[in-house]
Amino acid sequence: MHLSPVGLSKHCFLVSLALCALLLLLIPTLQAPQRQGEPPQPRPHARLAKPRSGHEPHRTHNATVHQSAGNGKDSDVNQLPLPRGRRQGSWRVPKRDSTRASFPGSQSREPLEQKDIFIAVKTTRKYHISRLQLLFQTWVSKAKEQTFIFTDGEDKELKQKSGNIINTNCSASHTRQALCCKMSVEYDKFIESQKKWFCHVDDDNYVILPSLLRLLSSYSHTQDVYLGRPSLDHPIEAAERVKSDGSMSVKFWFATGGAGFCISRGLALKMSPWASLGNFITTAEKIRLPDDCTVGYIIEALLEVPLMHTWLFHSHLENLQRLPTADILRQVTLSYGGVENRRNVVSIGGDFSLTEDPSRFKTVHCLLYPETHWCPRNIRN
Ligand SMILES: *[C@@H]1O[C@H](CO)[C@@H](O)[C@H](O)[C@H]1NC(C)=O
Ligand SMILES: *[C@@H]1O[C@H](CO)[C@@H](O)[C@H](O)[C@H]1NC(C)=O
Repeated sequence: MHLSPVGLSKHCFLVSLALCALLLLLIPTLQAPQRQGEPPQPRPHARLAKPRSGHEPHRTHNATVHQSAGNGKDSDVNQLPLPRGRRQGSWRVPKRDSTRASFPGSQSREPLEQKDIFIAVKTTRKYHISRLQLLFQTWVSKAKEQTFIFTDGEDKELKQKSGNIINTNCSASHTRQALCCKMSVEYDKFIESQKKWFCHVDDDNYVILPSLLRLLSSYSHTQDVYLGRPSLDHPIEAAERVKSDGSMSVKFWFATGGAGFCISRGLALKMSPWASLGNFITTAEKIRLPDDCTVGYIIEALLEVPLMHTWLFHSHLENLQRLPTADILRQVTLSYGGVENRRNVVSIGGDFSLTEDPSRFKTVHCLLYPETHWCPRNIRN
């Protein structure tokens, strides 16, 4: 393109005019920072104007609940765990924030999704058929990608059902060493997974996935959260052999592994010196306690993070018949008595008799997911 000298200066003039206009427009913006000698003020208007940008600062660093859990029904709120060692008055479940509700975009924290949860199921070779098949048929079928089975023997048939079968190579015995060995592998796989929450359950647990998601959604995975059912009504006491020589004792609570428990990623990362790459086994050996106690020891005694007691998790050690029928589907985990105590199951009626569904897991599953092809209502219709 050819430009005459006159044309060129005309262009220069236009360009400098545009630059001046731009500068004029920028002056108010450039002046703004100079006024900010004052402490930062909340700027609600700015937020409304740009609802989706930026990250909302964590105003409540040590309050564990960021948003209302569930649908705001009182019953749900009552069943949320209260952290121990904090005055009840200073900790409460916030009511649903109406500002956020009317401006959903202003909620910068992404809602928790099921794919953010790592569910570890601990099992052993001899239960691959009697226990795992029931889990695959029921709740695991709704969380295939997030559920990881930790076992102790090769099983080609099982591997065809799921890509997430992990042979821990741990001993198949029910000894402390074998159990801690599995927990150690579970921990490492979780860290590797990059998921936000670690939940451990046993092979006789039914996980009510919507309840689990609702419970975990009330917390932030970046905070220190350890949720579970205390197995005793008092803290356990053990000789302190990690921080001292064993002449002192420590008291701590732990969540019973048989009912399942969850740990936020933030907290799991802090456990690393005592839990990663085989360190879990060393820690457990030092205090000579089982796997779930060792988790409690690392979190409560070493990291000084309190267990949040919740009664939404259930193991076969409790009287499951006592659980009110109306509350069953709101629990997070269920269990059943097994061969030793066949009658210890949740009292829930449905289309399956006790003979057809001794654990009641199929009944629970069909109430939660009535569209499932093998649920009686569907077969009849
Ligand atoms: C909350 O955290 C702040 C600092 O993050 C700390 O100063 C304060 O003592 C904490 N409060 C409670 C109740 O833990
Ligand atoms: C168990 O052993 C097999 C074969 O040696 C190996 O491929 C696998 O990675 C081991 N599992 C773990 C969790 O280390």
